[in-house]
Amino acid sequence: MCGIVGYVGPKDAVPLLIEGLKRLEYRGYDSAGVAVRRADGALDVRKCVGRLSNLEEALEAAPLAGGLGIGHTRWATHGEPSEINSHPHIDCSGGVAVVHNGIIENYLELRAELEAKGHVFRSQTDTEALPHLIEEILKGGETSHAGAIRAALRRARGAYALGIVFRDEPGVLYAARCGSPLIVGVGEGEQYIASDVPAILNRVKKVIYLNDGEVAELRASGATLSKLDGTPVVPEVKTVTLRAEAAERAGFETFMLKEIHEQPRVLRTLLDAHVGKDGVVNLGPASALIDEAATGLRRVLILSCGTAYYAGMYGRLLIERWTGIPCETDLGSEFRYRGPRLPENTLVVAVSQSGETADTLASVRLARKMGCKVLGICNVPGSTLLRESDAALLTQAGPEIGVASTKAFTAQLMAFALLAIRMGRVRGALDARRERELTEELARIPDGIHRVLDKQDDVRAVSQKYYECFNALYLGRRFNYPVALEGALKNKEISYQHAEGYAAGEMKHGPIALINEFLPVVCLCTPTADEVHEKVVSNLKEVEARKGRIIAVVAESDRTIRGMAQDVIPVPETIEEFSPMINVVALQLFAYFNAKLRGADIDKPRNLAKSVTVE
Ligand code: AGP
Repeated sequence: MCGIVGYVGPKDAVPLLIEGLKRLEYRGYDSAGVAVRRADGALDVRKCVGRLSNLEEALEAAPLAGGLGIGHTRWATHGEPSEINSHPHIDCSGGVAVVHNGIIENYLELRAELEAKGHVFRSQTDTEALPHLIEEILKGGETSHAGAIRAALRRARGAYALGIVFRDEPGVLYAARCGSPLIVGVGEGEQYIASDVPAILNRVKKVIYLNDGEVAELRASGATLSKLDGTPVVPEVKTVTLRAEAAERAGFETFMLKEIHEQPRVLRTLLDAHVGKDGVVNLGPASALIDEAATGLRRVLILSCGTAYYAGMYGRLLIERWTGIPCETDLGSEFRYRGPRLPENTLVVAVSQSGETADTLASVRLARKMGCKVLGICNVPGSTLLRESDAALLTQAGPEIGVASTKAFTAQLMAFALLAIRMGRVRGALDARRERELTEELARIPDGIHRVLDKQDDVRAVSQKYYECFNALYLGRRFNYPVALEGALKNKEISYQHAEGYAAGEMKHGPIALINEFLPVVCLCTPTADEVHEKVVSNLKEVEARKGRIIAVVAESDRTIRGMAQDVIPVPETIEEFSPMINVVALQLFAYFNAKLRGADIDKPRNLAKSVTVE
């Protein structure tokens, strides 16, 4: 979703703003802009619809120079993608420029009030209310810019991360946050703001994570923070441990392909961090909450959105199987509005790659209000989710830049496997021998994924036959039902091929009507040794009888399915509980090659945003 970068210091701001915005391109955007305070005292703005290259061209044609500036990539919510609606937005007199991520929910009311006082709005955005409101407050006698920002934000309802600069105040960059992520990058004699660490990872090693309700006043020499009522806040400066290369493509044609290939390493890192040489699972700082909760728990509730929701579906199956504790899942966007009833001693597990998904965060807040403890499973240290959780299980996948989640998903699956084993042990539902067997099997998963990756050209050959189809159906059962959903989501997200995931047993209750000789049916058929395998085979027979085109993900040793399927993608076998971690990689590659053959912009799929920070 919208990206923000800001700079104050001795260097020229524009190249730094553009570089930072490029590093945020993965968040998804449809237009971009910058505002710079020029040396001659003017506050100048350049904006363009489309890619950042358009903005770069505009800046080449009409250059901007100055050491104070803000930049923005916009993902349209209020008003179509257009130059007028792109940020930065300015007030009537051109004295203040604002970039914003989030939604000002009472903007219509503010706009009407300000228009009645003579302010002229140019755009259809919610954001534009802010510069006019700040201007109005300054006109009303407020003498300090920080004071005007705080007063404006006390009136604004909704979510925001803001970068603000004033024509009449050279050398000061303002930032504020409520509900949308924003960090301050602390440099030597210069300061940055950004929506996300990768934007400035190559520039600074120290950051301040702004908290909700804080306003930052940044000068080249340092940062001053205050709350909306003016109370000073002592900034907590943290050192970033990520290396800049973590946010580079490392020779891969896309970030997504790089991240697909990183999965064996990511899972090994998680295993090394949480499984001892004795095969015992230790969840580090999260152990206290998990162990304490596991003994008296009546229910586990997993909350998440999108791909993370499918990881939650997988987690539910494992938790119920290995702990005996009833477990349910809900979508963040549904939970908050369903008037939930939660029994006492419910543990909420919130799953999110970014830790900034608005619906997940709102559900977590509601669950906490209802007295639940929250365990956050998340990939981003310092994220809002982790700061609002009682304990954290970090997935440690490193920055995920591709909009379509891959390595973060498999890391979430692994995190759930470790969590369920640990809880099962604490509850006495698993004994030490079973724990060791399971962790030994988990240790084999990274190699299994390697073997799938080694055969990626075979998957490409399968895509070659199907990439032009309009639709695809994905089927899986039990542990592989969430994988079918995730495989279908991956395909539609990046290739724009319509794809639907279904529980294989549900096919005959509706989707079977779609099957004909043109419909590819992707079916997850491993492992072969569990009780649902035979059922899957029967479901495939139903597809075969209607001449559907079967693409089966099968065990390397399989001989039965090959006879029925037009195409097979063989993968190494593991136990059913862990098969999703391997099977999903085959589907990620299949989606990837479909998208590539269809000529799609894989790292920046249309209309999508990496982290969905609005409701
Ligand atoms: C995944 O490919 C998606 N882009 C999307 O569904 C994502 O998983 C969802 O928005 C949740 O994001 P989060 O994990 O950052 O909370």
